[in-house]
Amino acid sequence: MPLESAAPPVNPRPEPSRRFSVAPMMDWTDRHCRYFLRLLSRNALLYTEMVTTGALLHGDAERFLRHDEAEYPLALQLGGSVPADLAACAKLAQDAGYDEVNLNVGCPSDRVQNNMIGACLMGHPALVGDCVKAMQDAVQIPVTVKHRIGINGRDSYAELCDFVGQVRDAGCRSFTVHARIAILEGLSPKENREIPPLRYDVAAQLKADFPELEIILNGGIKTLAECQAHLQTFDGVMLGREAYHNPYVLAEVDQQLFGSQASVISRSEALAQLRPYIAAHLASGGAMHHVTRHILGLGQGFPGARKFRQLLSVDIHKSKDPLALLDQAGALLQGR
Ligand SMILES: Cc1cc2nc3c(=O)[nH]c(=O)nc-3n(C[C@H](O)[C@H](O)[C@H](O)COP(=O)(O)O)c2cc1C
Repeated sequence: MPLESAAPPVNPRPEPSRRFSVAPMMDWTDRHCRYFLRLLSRNALLYTEMVTTGALLHGDAERFLRHDEAEYPLALQLGGSVPADLAACAKLAQDAGYDEVNLNVGCPSDRVQNNMIGACLMGHPALVGDCVKAMQDAVQIPVTVKHRIGINGRDSYAELCDFVGQVRDAGCRSFTVHARIAILEGLSPKENREIPPLRYDVAAQLKADFPELEIILNGGIKTLAECQAHLQTFDGVMLGREAYHNPYVLAEVDQQLFGSQASVISRSEALAQLRPYIAAHLASGGAMHHVTRHILGLGQGFPGARKFRQLLSVDIHKSKDPLALLDQAGALLQGR
């Protein structure tokens, strides 16, 4: 009698590596941006923009979860603090094919604080633990937390350890640490990414004190050489603004950080590979700038770079033939 085959695992893809990731960024890391970034690196783990539980449960869930399979490995970031809601959203994420679900405990905006979302949750470690536990009970994919090293009024190292310890006890194994505190009153989200000083030493101490946990470093990292150096201490690195403003930094991630032998993609090849995606987006009624606004950062550091950006950010709004304009921009990337 043939042996009964085991039930297929819920998520047959291997757990993605968090050795290198691109940060969740509202309005920036949308599905078009992620599709483009994936062309530059196969291995980078990509995060969505934060989606609140309210938006997913009471809004157009399909729109918020939409992605292309080419984007994998892909993590959905959630904002919320009601365990049952987060659990329901984690399930939606798993069912939609995401590789990981991440809880935002780092966003300092007033708007989210009023709803108990983001960095203010660092003051409520037991609640974050309850959230993580509820999410983990609902899904098989990893549940991770992205947080700061503190918030004003709760910024001692002991309090950081208390937070991480309680969330670990609830079952979380991977923490992405934006290595600065958030100041919850008086600073804009942008200022909160610039003014509180970066404290890699505090994040490193956390790794030393919680060696069993996966600790990913985030904040202010710009080059792959810096990534290599941080990977001596940390399990992974996450890049935000640099990956967006200078996306070509991703082009050697696979070779330098994952040991890939594949040849490094050129800017011009990346654009050529993006062209069919843009054509399909146009054919479905979309506008080219939805996609190309994310690739302006490819245009820097070579003659014609300014023209490249101008074509895709200014001329694009006047053009009747967007693909011809794209080809004109592509010509400026020849040999780059
Ligand atoms: C435009 C923008 C939007 C952001 N949105 C989010 C978000 O939705 N969720 C989140 O956890 N962090 C968000 N962040 C913070 C980044 O994920 C990251 O922690 C921060 O930019 C520090 O990393 P970096 O110095 O590499 O940019 C955002 C940052 C930027 C610039």
